[in-house]
Amino acid sequence: MIQAAKRAIERRLESERSDACLMSRRAGIITDAWQSDLLRSDAKQMILLCSRQSGKSTVTSILGLHTALYKPDSLILLLSPSLRQSQELFRKLQDVYSAVESPNLPQATQESALGMGLSNGARIVVLPGKEATVRGFSGVSLLIIDEASRVEDALYQSVRPMLAVSGGRIILLSTPFGKRGFFYNEWTDGEDWRKVKITADECPRIDKEWLERERQMIGDWWFQQEYQCEFVETSDQFFNYEDIEKAVDPDVEPLFGGY
Ligand SMILES: Nc1ncnc2c1ncn2[C@@H]1O[C@H](COP(=O)(O)OP(=O)(O)OP(=O)(O)O)[C@@H](O)[C@H]1O
Ligand SMILES: [Mg+2]
Repeated sequence: MIQAAKRAIERRLESERSDACLMSRRAGIITDAWQSDLLRSDAKQMILLCSRQSGKSTVTSILGLHTALYKPDSLILLLSPSLRQSQELFRKLQDVYSAVESPNLPQATQESALGMGLSNGARIVVLPGKEATVRGFSGVSLLIIDEASRVEDALYQSVRPMLAVSGGRIILLSTPFGKRGFFYNEWTDGEDWRKVKITADECPRIDKEWLERERQMIGDWWFQQEYQCEFVETSDQFFNYEDIEKAVDPDVEPLFGGY
């Protein structure tokens, strides 16, 4: 009887290995269709352009935990504009870990507000949003950049090489924040990215009437950015992006091109 129960647990964990949605379900989170697609995707580079509260941090924290549990010696980095926000993402991951913990899964051997080490050699590291302090990691399996539109370009440039040798994965997730910066550039022109856009209307947990009241409260500009995932001009921008683009002729040589 005990043997049969043990075998059932082993079978269950074996199916969770190949499907993170099953692990999520055991933690009490039934993933939305787009979250399931993301968890089942093997894309190396993904960008999630998603509304506030749509569940983007939740789903990436599940992916981070799943990678750590099932990929021995993996290194997962959680990055965002500030340490506080990276820790917020880590807390989501810890909550899922507490819910799915099992003697048959790797155990936490070290845990603090800055990360977690597992008995299979995997590590999850929480990073602050400062370029000088994030250098020095290599062999990264998964790099998650939350609130990516507000992360500085210099920081993005300094973390990308960490994936070079390991062939690791990267996920950028954010609401938009103006037509500038790497998040906007990768979303609009980046190749080899799996791109996912989820507006507030598409999230089953965001009430339509609440959304309409929110639009009236915060105004169209914020609403388009925060809930409709539009890259609207920054509010202090004097000329809009399209006008600047129209005014620039790529065929004209700069006057002082030689300098
Ligand atoms: N599939 C799901 N089922 C039930 N609840 C979910 C699901 N996905 C996310 N949630 C819940 O929805 C809320 C918002 O999720 P989350 O914080 O991941 O969203 P977010 O897009 O990162 O939001 P923000 O833009 O504010 O950072 C949380 O309370 C989370 O637990
Ligand atoms: Mg979030």
